[in-house]
Amino acid sequence: METYQCIRSRLTVRDFRPDPVPARVINKMLRAARWAPSARNRQPWQFIVIQDRDTLAKIGGMASSGGYIARAPLAIAVIMGKVNRADLDAGRALQQMELAAWSEGVGGCFVGLGGEENAKVKALLGVPEELQLITVMPFGYPTDEAKARGKARKPLSEMAHREKFGQKYLQR
Ligand SMILES: Cc1cc2nc3c(=O)[nH]c(=O)nc-3n(C[C@H](O)[C@H](O)[C@H](O)COP(=O)(O)O)c2cc1C
Repeated sequence: METYQCIRSRLTVRDFRPDPVPARVINKMLRAARWAPSARNRQPWQFIVIQDRDTLAKIGGMASSGGYIARAPLAIAVIMGKVNRADLDAGRALQQMELAAWSEGVGGCFVGLGGEENAKVKALLGVPEELQLITVMPFGYPTDEAKARGKARKPLSEMAHREKFGQKYLQR
């Protein structure tokens, strides 16, 4: 899929068909994340590929804003070292993973895991104390309803400026 088309068509997916995501696609997603840039090229990330139904169900039960993990055929936990701007590095790796997945027809949704639920999922996955669990992101092939969901963005005119803040960037 052409790059911009992949970016433009990507949807957040929370409803998955039960079909498994093939190892070839999972490997592509992990490789895409691995090639992400990071501050000082530290590559402070670790990934856990989760396909065990029992583990997915348990995480779904712990994630208050991501119960749908329980119904996904796959989830990938993103773990970072406690480095400066870890969120930025994680975001870049995740976005590359997500776009590589979408180019193969596979969608996902970032799940925020705060406070106590983060600690519970971390313990379940055996993540060492000194590392931070950023998300457990479920992936799978979208149902027809999920594919039909639109997406909305504010107009570019509300976010793009030319030369100085407040001077509208008018598309030529
Ligand atoms: C940092 C971040 C945290 C998010 N947390 C959650 C979450 O906990 N649960 C959820 O259902 N969606 C979560 N989302 C998904 C957003 O709601 C979604 O990306 C947004 O609505 C845009 O969807 P779209 O790209 O399909 O238009 C999160 C997204 C981001 C980037």
